[in-house]
Amino acid sequence: MPPTLAPVRSTATTDYYQLTMQSAPAQIIPGFATTIFGYNGIHPGPTVYARRGRIVVVRQINALPDVHPTLGYRCTTSVHLHGNASLPQYDGWAEDLTPPGFFKDYVYPNEQPGRTMWYHDHAVDHTAENVYMGLAGFYITNEGPNLPLPKGRFDIPLMIKDVLFTPDRQLLFDAGEEDKGLMGDVILVNGKPWPVLKVERRKYLFRILNASASRAYRLALSTGDPFTFVQTDGGLMPVPQSAAEFRIGAAERYGVVIDFARYPIGQQVVLRNLDLKNNENFATTKQVMRFDVTAEATSLSNNTVPPVLTPGNSAGDPMLLQPSQAVRTRDWQFKRRREAWSINGEFWDSGRIDADPALGAVEIWRFQNTSGGWFHPIHTHLVDFKILDRNGRPPAAYELGAKDTTYVGEDETLRVIARFTPHRGRYMMHCHNLVHEDTHMMTNFEVGKGGP
Ligand code: C2O
Ligand code: CU
Repeated sequence: MPPTLAPVRSTATTDYYQLTMQSAPAQIIPGFATTIFGYNGIHPGPTVYARRGRIVVVRQINALPDVHPTLGYRCTTSVHLHGNASLPQYDGWAEDLTPPGFFKDYVYPNEQPGRTMWYHDHAVDHTAENVYMGLAGFYITNEGPNLPLPKGRFDIPLMIKDVLFTPDRQLLFDAGEEDKGLMGDVILVNGKPWPVLKVERRKYLFRILNASASRAYRLALSTGDPFTFVQTDGGLMPVPQSAAEFRIGAAERYGVVIDFARYPIGQQVVLRNLDLKNNENFATTKQVMRFDVTAEATSLSNNTVPPVLTPGNSAGDPMLLQPSQAVRTRDWQFKRRREAWSINGEFWDSGRIDADPALGAVEIWRFQNTSGGWFHPIHTHLVDFKILDRNGRPPAAYELGAKDTTYVGEDETLRVIARFTPHRGRYMMHCHNLVHEDTHMMTNFEVGKGGP
């Protein structure tokens, strides 16, 4: 479990936190010190548990070295709270850079439905290296309704990522030759390679985040039993869904319940990673972690998945949007161009705005993977969306909830619908394969300037 971050002080309305980005040794492989970059020097960074309705201010201090020790780039940073509808000046815009030796205060009002978010670096051209080095942590807001889902030590965030090591056990950043991005052969969960978790015979909620630079996963249990999905990127789903396997691209989050009461003490359940097209599938990447059932349940409270999770009456809920409400449809093509990655044939240009939805407008965005191979996890800042269809067919059962990042596989076209609110301003949309993002698969949209 990543440690919980305590506020440095609190007032009637606000909790103040402080994080220091620094280079530090980590023991990832027993007996070796691997240099990482971490918030407070650890990876994952400490988890922020925020209360809805209370303001959070995070002072982010950049105490990284001036230049990366082996890659030589300047370690400026920008911190994005992924999944939060931040004001533009606090959204971690890629060119809003804080140099080493400086800090920036980020303000988050926590008014959205409760959800699993993560804070991570977003510095232009170097997001992949910085996140890969360890600049990522959880930020979790509480759910509104007090449902009897697993809580406390039965509610566990899992940050999954893949890494490569040099012979002397340092992180190797090698984005390869096949344009897939970085495909590591060691799987870390919460910073540990292929860990084992001892579990009791009861239900657990796992908040699964893919924090990999590039790799997507197709997760399944070795027993073949289904996962019960209760949360997507935007928090609770309308109703739980069940699936025996699921794809999770970089930055997507799924909250899944696993009931270990169906297994006897002594049973081992492996979280497996099935082969996935356009990944680099190694023998070592076929498993992620293991659950060992070692004890009877010590508590059976909060051990229920209710049949309805959200009443579905919140005005901002994208799950209520209908295509007839959309004032327009925009097309976005994700494709390879001149040894780099483009959106509609264009590369990242901080001054160019490629869409201008009116404040409050409902739009359909069509994400087309026309790259001829590859997959692209596409992320919109500011807004949650509902997936309408993928290649004209309904999305997977586990995708039936609010999303901010979606897997756009080879030859896939997705239609998503969103309401562009609650803030005016300039926000990014990009591929969350961070190597693609850094090689220019990113653009800006500006809310509140244009009209329908
Ligand atoms: Cu998680 Cu623009 O990023
Ligand atoms: Cu991509």
